[in-house]
Amino acid sequence: MKLLHIDSSALGANSVTRELSAAVVARWQDAVPGLAVEYRDLDAEPIPHLTGRSLAKADPAEAADAERTIQQFLDADVIVIGSPMYNFGISSTLKAWIDRVAVAGRSFRYTETGPEGLAKGKRVIVASGRGGIHTDAPSDFQEPYLRQVLGFLGIDEVEFVRAEGVAYSPQHRSDALAGAHASIRTPTPLRLAA
Ligand SMILES: Cc1cc2nc3c(=O)[nH]c(=O)nc-3n(C[C@H](O)[C@H](O)[C@H](O)COP(=O)(O)O)c2cc1C
Repeated sequence: MKLLHIDSSALGANSVTRELSAAVVARWQDAVPGLAVEYRDLDAEPIPHLTGRSLAKADPAEAADAERTIQQFLDADVIVIGSPMYNFGISSTLKAWIDRVAVAGRSFRYTETGPEGLAKGKRVIVASGRGGIHTDAPSDFQEPYLRQVLGFLGIDEVEFVRAEGVAYSPQHRSDALAGAHASIRTPTPLRLAA
């Protein structure tokens, strides 16, 4: 079984989502002996924005990395994504990754009856961090967006481990982090087999 661990926070050691994504991955490692984990830090090694040159594969090194990125995504059984809310949406580094994994003919396709996701059978756990409180609010363009785009790719099993309101006060931050840690689910044999 393969797990792909993605971080995209720009806040380094002070990051809420890095702490939570690492805790989720540790839980999976405890539950699944021999789990193969690959890690990608999109802040330390950002993927270039998708441009016309990218689509034309004008830069062989960029094209090779793009191929590695989509294949790494397709190969993963479980994906753990650290996603900070930046300006009401996801970080641009994470968006750059999505632009490389949402590829027509690889992870989705259009048919005469509409789009079809081709990346079926994966589980995604998103470690979400927000300075304010946005759950079920119209200001949330982060989690609904991730659910939408992952669903478009065929991934319906998306779970959020969320710490929000972390900017309100140090107490809010520690309470939100404690609540998020407590919400991390241990992968059960049933869910592993699903
Ligand atoms: C550039 C930037 C933009 C942010 N934009 C928002 C925002 O729109 N709404 C919000 O609630 N918090 C916002 N925040 C606060 C972050 O969501 C919060 O710090 C969260 O913990 C980010 O996750 P991280 O700690 O893993 O980086 C922003 C933070 C930064 C650095």
